[in-house]
Amino acid sequence: MPQNFVTKHSTSYKVHDEFRSTALISSREQYAAIYRRSVEDPDGFWADIASHFYWKTKWQSEDGKIHSANMDVRNGQVAIEWFKGGKTNICYNSLDRHVEAGLGDKIAFFWEGNDPGVDDKLTYKELLERVCQLSNYLRDQGVKKGDAVAIYMPMLVELPIAMLACARIGAVHSVVFAGFSAEALSQRILDCRPNIVLTTSGVRRGSKVIKLKEIVDDALQCVLSEGFAVGTCLTYANDSAVKREDTAWQKGRDIWWQDVVPNYPKESAVEWMDAEDTLFLLYTSGSTGKPKGVLHTTGGYMVYTATTFKYAFDYHDDDIYWCTADCGWITGHSYLTYGPLLNGASIVIFEGVPNYPDAGRCWEIVDKYKVSIFYTAPTAIRSLMQSGNEPVKRHSRKSLRVLGSVGEPINPSAWRWYYDVVGDARCPISDTWWQTETGGFMITPLPGGWPLKPGSATLPFFGVQPAIVNENGLEISGECSGYLCIKAPWPGMMRTLQGDHARYETTYFAPFKGFYFSGDGCRRDKDGYYWLTGRVDDVINVSGHRIGTAEVESALVSHPQCAEAAVVGFDHEIKGQGIYAFVTLLEGVEYSQQLRASLVNAVRTHIGPFAAPDKIHWAPGLPKTRSGKIMRRILRKIAAKQLDELGDISTLADPSIVDQLIGLRDK
Ligand code: PRX
Repeated sequence: MPQNFVTKHSTSYKVHDEFRSTALISSREQYAAIYRRSVEDPDGFWADIASHFYWKTKWQSEDGKIHSANMDVRNGQVAIEWFKGGKTNICYNSLDRHVEAGLGDKIAFFWEGNDPGVDDKLTYKELLERVCQLSNYLRDQGVKKGDAVAIYMPMLVELPIAMLACARIGAVHSVVFAGFSAEALSQRILDCRPNIVLTTSGVRRGSKVIKLKEIVDDALQCVLSEGFAVGTCLTYANDSAVKREDTAWQKGRDIWWQDVVPNYPKESAVEWMDAEDTLFLLYTSGSTGKPKGVLHTTGGYMVYTATTFKYAFDYHDDDIYWCTADCGWITGHSYLTYGPLLNGASIVIFEGVPNYPDAGRCWEIVDKYKVSIFYTAPTAIRSLMQSGNEPVKRHSRKSLRVLGSVGEPINPSAWRWYYDVVGDARCPISDTWWQTETGGFMITPLPGGWPLKPGSATLPFFGVQPAIVNENGLEISGECSGYLCIKAPWPGMMRTLQGDHARYETTYFAPFKGFYFSGDGCRRDKDGYYWLTGRVDDVINVSGHRIGTAEVESALVSHPQCAEAAVVGFDHEIKGQGIYAFVTLLEGVEYSQQLRASLVNAVRTHIGPFAAPDKIHWAPGLPKTRSGKIMRRILRKIAAKQLDELGDISTLADPSIVDQLIGLRDK
């Protein structure tokens, strides 16, 4: 393996010629030429790429147009379509196509269990058989095209199998991250109304055991009290975590996966889907309390995730790819499941956590499977960085070729550690900026293409036209900062929010007319590189998990002793952002540590442990304008201890509240 793939040039890092010699994109000029075509002739560009997939019926296009889109609310309803009329199936393209091409014996998934030494693997042929068995079972249960199926599972291979089985029969999967609470799960079930939920008895993550089936039982009870009954709860017995005999059971509704699914045939017919038929729903947080069911369709998402995966990771057929994301988030959908499988990649799935049993686990796994592309989140990098270099250096990591980062801005010091220590200063880093809503990468390096700058996601992907927009909704050019928008449709973009097209329009298309608004702030430098600066709305990004402040507030005020709450983000060394909650108690209630714990617990119960506030700040009142609007700007400054930057507080109904809050900061 050649050394020094990348050499350092003051603030930018130039990719070494040896990496470039085999790279798919090896110069900015090559990129620029392809990019130009992708924006000048998006139909021709994407049609050429899409023709490499299997289409039962090709999209209809007499005039060469393969997409139609209105992103401007002033011109009527926002509507996006790609490859309309084309019939395909993403499961077929992810599995059958490769098996038919002779790749059946290639490993699709290497599964690494929570504990070292516990592992498994599945070839493409075996994976296809397992997917077919489950899809036959689902069909037998009456699940048909367009029906929703809820999935609440840990990182066992059965989770992507479940997603693929749904896709095969045209059912709409709705995966809920298995760290959400019963209440959060029940909300999502009530929104998409599945007749079947797939789950697992439990899981071990690090040294903890989580009884997932119990959480599902509570959620199903909760939906029942709202008048909705789920017919079947198919439960995978994960005996290493929670045994069958220790799992509560409701006869008639609950079925053990292993008792039924293996009895079904290993072949199953494919449901041919229109390119615009729904593939999945994935709930994400917004600036109001109710989670949004982001809806993705089949054809555009398929073409987009596969293409972005290939170029942003410079994927070659012999690569071994590991993405640490959970399938409960969009990264697990697009870049652990669909994107890599569509490319016929060998993928590592890891059940556990990066620092169990110790901080060297990730690099042990890299060496074990000879991982060449490693994709993770800055929060994991920062937390591993804290344990020093020894746990990394103890392992060879010589198979690594490309590193990836996702979920939040990566701070330059974490970037450099990732680059210098993990990648031995030879592996380019793809810092991929994108969102649940975008389906796939939007701004990302193409390793080999151009020099990298720590902390910058660099340049737009093919077909992506970013615009930096000012407060007046006008696009600004050159070196500048502002709101990050996208000015033309791309195949992987979401099509609507489940059951709420009006909210889709108001959230993403109404703020800046004619543009898709990302909710992120952004700067562009003199080289045209993009630097993401974080959310500009009331969404915070905790360890790469998107959390709406309104959701946390509504969980806090559900506590019987809480009168009011306001939540803001603050800089957190490991998590990127932490959750800082100002809480006003009901008249006469005394502050206490116990009450603090019970408020945090309320958030755990309503949302899940990952949304638990890091700090509860007692607030005799909140800083409000005379019209009653909470001035979060002031709360953010208090949380950040930037007390000399409070700005004008004279417009507050009661300015004295600010001093009272400052006085209580460390109480
Ligand atoms: O603020 C941006 C941040 O994560 C948000 C999207 O979150 P979610 O939909 O949960 O998807 C996460 C995985 C794609 C964005 O609005 N974000 C994501 N990637 C980056 C990022 N911020 C900076 N740099 C990134 N690479």
